[in-house]
Amino acid sequence: MQVVPTDRKGPVSVTHQHLLTAIGTLLADGRVRPSQGRLRILDIGCGDGQLIDFLHDRLTRTFPDLAIELHGFDIGEQGYNDGGQFHTATQMLAARHPGIAWADRISMISDAEAWRYPSGYFDIALSNQVLEHVADLAAFLAELHRCLAPAGMSLHLFPLAQSIVEAHCQTPFAHWIRDFDRRVNWIALLSRMGVGAYRRHRKVLGHDTPRQHAVETAKYIQCWTHYRTFNAIADQCSRTSLAASSGLTNGLFIAKLRGMLKLRPLGRYRRSRLPGVDWLGFMIGRYLSSSTLVIAPVSYDIGRRIAAEKAANTLRRAA
Ligand SMILES: C[S@@+](CC[C@H](N)C(=O)[O-])C[C@H]1O[C@@H](n2cnc3c(N)ncnc32)[C@H](O)[C@@H]1O
Repeated sequence: MQVVPTDRKGPVSVTHQHLLTAIGTLLADGRVRPSQGRLRILDIGCGDGQLIDFLHDRLTRTFPDLAIELHGFDIGEQGYNDGGQFHTATQMLAARHPGIAWADRISMISDAEAWRYPSGYFDIALSNQVLEHVADLAAFLAELHRCLAPAGMSLHLFPLAQSIVEAHCQTPFAHWIRDFDRRVNWIALLSRMGVGAYRRHRKVLGHDTPRQHAVETAKYIQCWTHYRTFNAIADQCSRTSLAASSGLTNGLFIAKLRGMLKLRPLGRYRRSRLPGVDWLGFMIGRYLSSSTLVIAPVSYDIGRRIAAEKAANTLRRAA
């Protein structure tokens, strides 16, 4: 399988590039294939549609012989509706990639609703900075499993509970502190010291004082984020017949480093030949930045195993 090209025009989001390279890796390794004559990709929590725009552009140029179909949805509860992002995303995609019925490909649903796709529809599902916002992980994973093809895979880039800096307020440890008042005091203290997003949020969100910023930020963290550990997610996955792996996490650091050094982005990631390096990268990386989880359906034919063991026992007794 061909790998994703490395040409680049204009600035590219490092997370988008990383997800493109991660898709290239799954394709190049033969871990995912178009299952119904086309490669169907779903962007879960697609926001303003920029990732869909980027992936459509790069993937169709890289795989001209492959029918690639990108879809996306977001939920209304978290501001997608109020902010008009749904229409903006659809219009932007229609202008950038005419001839595709984007209004049918991009949808807005309620968090309580089932995803509007037939079962087994997607070969790849991905999400960027979404899982830390998902309130009902069990429902999310059940829908993910239902919508993925049996040999499909999903990629999720998001901060785990261990990440030191709370991504939305750029304040270290703000999400580790569960006591609301202590969290407010901590964010206010750091804001006064110039640490975090206070200056930006004063301009953008009208947070007049460090104290007001701290209260509003603590409320945001409380109401709209759900940080989880890898183990909590893996446990929930196993209850949904899904398997979670962290092996592509290092890719984000590679993509960031290559971007800083102005090197061409990679078309695919390769596993480290040194044992333990990928694992160590994840163990350290989850504190420093977003992690990348691959979540895929898993099943095991227990009947075949029992039959094989019975047959072996019968042979042994007969011998
Ligand atoms: C930080 S934004 C990221 C948006 C977009 N993926 C991006 O990279 O720009 C988080 C997004 O997750 C969405 N979201 C939260 N919970 C969700 C859920 N249960 N299912 C789908 N999307 C969800 C929100 O509506 C929001 O658009």
